[in-house]
Amino acid sequence: MKAYLYDNLPGDQRLPHDSGVALSPESLASIGVLYHRVPSVAEVDELASSRGYRNRDEITVSPAAMGDIYEAKVRSFFDEHLHEDEEIRYVRDGVGYFDVRDKEDRWVRIRLERDDLIILPAGIYHRFTTDEGNYVQAMRLFKDEPKWTPLNRAEELDANPHRKEYVTQFLN
Ligand code: LAC
Ligand code: NI
Repeated sequence: MKAYLYDNLPGDQRLPHDSGVALSPESLASIGVLYHRVPSVAEVDELASSRGYRNRDEITVSPAAMGDIYEAKVRSFFDEHLHEDEEIRYVRDGVGYFDVRDKEDRWVRIRLERDDLIILPAGIYHRFTTDEGNYVQAMRLFKDEPKWTPLNRAEELDANPHRKEYVTQFLN
């Protein structure tokens, strides 16, 4: 895992966009983003049961796995959004970037590779992309039914109870 401020320069979303300003796991925790290096699936099982996660699946994001819809999918993952539930991703292979908004509404890029597990709290604005390798395989954990409806950033979401809870807990 490597976290840094996104450079906001033009260029493909899959480029590193590394501003050179590195961020610590503690600064991620201050906005509610929890990072764990998890070298074994047994430890994922522990974490899942301690947080009440009963279900999981695996997704491969790549042109080989997705075919013609790959480019459109990758662009849609990169639309800034939030969820009304936590988003947990455990990378098994390849590389993925999660970008999350910090307290000043700047983009923080989090580079994840094999054995990296990230927990994004409900209500945080974020987006996702593959890197130039165009390949990531990840485990997605969920409690009951997957509740991953992306709510794209919009002013009316300021009144969403999950967003309000996140703002109260982490941005004030
Ligand atoms: C998701 C990632 C794209 O919602 O944030 O699955
Ligand atoms: Ni998401």
